[in-house]
Amino acid sequence: DKPKRRPAMKSAFVVVANRLPVDQTTDPDGTVRWRRSPGGLVTALEPVMRANKGAWIGWSGSSDDGDERQEPFDEAGMHLIPMQLTSDDVEEYYEGFSNGTLWPLYHDVIAQPVFHREWWDAYTKVNERFARAAAEVADEGAVVWVHDYQLQLVPEMLRALRPDLRIGFFLHIPFPPNELFARLPWRRQILRGLLGADLVGFQRPGAAANFLRLTRRMLGHQTQADRAILADGRIVRAGAFPISIDMAELEEIARRPETEARAQEIRDEIGNPDKVFLGIDRLDYTKGIGERIKAFFELLNEGELSPEEATFLQVATPSRERVEEYKALRNDVELLVGRVNGAHGRIGRPAMTYLHNSFVRTELAALYRAADVMVVTPLRDGMNLVAKEFIACRYDNTGTLILSEFAGAADELRQALLVNPYDVDGLKQALLQAVRVEPREASRKMRAMRRYLAEHDVDRWANTFLEKLAGRPEL
Ligand code: ADP
Ligand code: G6P
Repeated sequence: DKPKRRPAMKSAFVVVANRLPVDQTTDPDGTVRWRRSPGGLVTALEPVMRANKGAWIGWSGSSDDGDERQEPFDEAGMHLIPMQLTSDDVEEYYEGFSNGTLWPLYHDVIAQPVFHREWWDAYTKVNERFARAAAEVADEGAVVWVHDYQLQLVPEMLRALRPDLRIGFFLHIPFPPNELFARLPWRRQILRGLLGADLVGFQRPGAAANFLRLTRRMLGHQTQADRAILADGRIVRAGAFPISIDMAELEEIARRPETEARAQEIRDEIGNPDKVFLGIDRLDYTKGIGERIKAFFELLNEGELSPEEATFLQVATPSRERVEEYKALRNDVELLVGRVNGAHGRIGRPAMTYLHNSFVRTELAALYRAADVMVVTPLRDGMNLVAKEFIACRYDNTGTLILSEFAGAADELRQALLVNPYDVDGLKQALLQAVRVEPREASRKMRAMRRYLAEHDVDRWANTFLEKLAGRPEL
């Protein structure tokens, strides 16, 4: 076993997530670099952690089979405590149980979840390690906030070690109904794990309702109308807390003259079409990337659109690249992009630009500014922060958001052009509608969504959750 961590500074507020906000990469020459981790969880939690002094426990993104421990360090106003994963942990806990079993199961089985007992054992073991690390760092009576599907056993494990703590859990992804959840051979263990928290938060009310129903059905617990669960003599609360972004920060970046200049440069570089469609996603099969490209392709094939009228810019961050489904997706998407350009591009003028890369926030803001139509078409998504980021950047009330009904954000961004991404004809109509929309109509809708977002930013999300967590529940 590894040597014990040096006693760390104790914190009154501790966040536990699979990922740290920065990811460690090692260059071929051995130089170690840190860069921002991918995904919505980090985007949302980073400003919250900068505002609340606390510690963040998470994986640094590298695997290490040696004995070497990474020491806690401070970065951009945050105290970070790295957890090491061995290459077996990465394979079985992260790529395996988290992303080969839970991710597809919780996202409507868009891909087939795989069930392996060894993966479950690794998941249990790594969750235990995270729970022990949290128990070491948390001060007497501290608030510990555990995040996401990779760590669903931590609340129960941590409570056993430290009954003095106030424990919250937030699930960033959808929580499935009984019909899907019941397939999981370890369904009761997961429910008990979550019930170790005092408050379990979800993105949407339907997910909280699924959870309550499952605790009744699978564990025989009583639940109340106010979403309190009586679990072995304790009261656990569940509820919906739709996550958001730091709108002011992103808008500030979007308003900079250099961002505007870069946005214009991007439009010039793609040949100054009348309209620019934009997609920005992790390269994930839940995001409906192929569906939107297919719709665009058909419009070009049918002559409804020409590349001079509209081009598509798709940015896809590499993600979970060793998992089979992700390799297959990359092949499918890249084949499709090749077909679109083969049929409709000209020399030096592709009909579609596809970038398999990760960009800094300033470049993302320029992309959001360069677009006319943001195309967000997930087949299932807990929230989708990209949709909210686009709105944050459109301070001049221009631009149209096409948004899937199956993203959590669709509950809030009601003025978006809502689509069913499985309906290719519907998608095509939406793309055309967005290109032809009256500027006044688009501006009215954008203004309404911006007003909503300004009031519902990530601070409000965190404060609402943490205040609810702090309120001692009455029996
Ligand atoms: P998910 O959490 O499933 O990845 P979200 O839409 O909620 O989906 O969050 C994605 C986050 O990752 C956003 O903050 C977005 O800006 C960021 N992101 C997506 N693509 C890129 C990229 N190519 N480069 C940098 N950041 C990206
Ligand atoms: C989603 C998940 C996060 C995850 C992120 C990036 O946002 O909810 O928990 O961190 O995707 O995925 P990765 O596997 O790279 O951490």
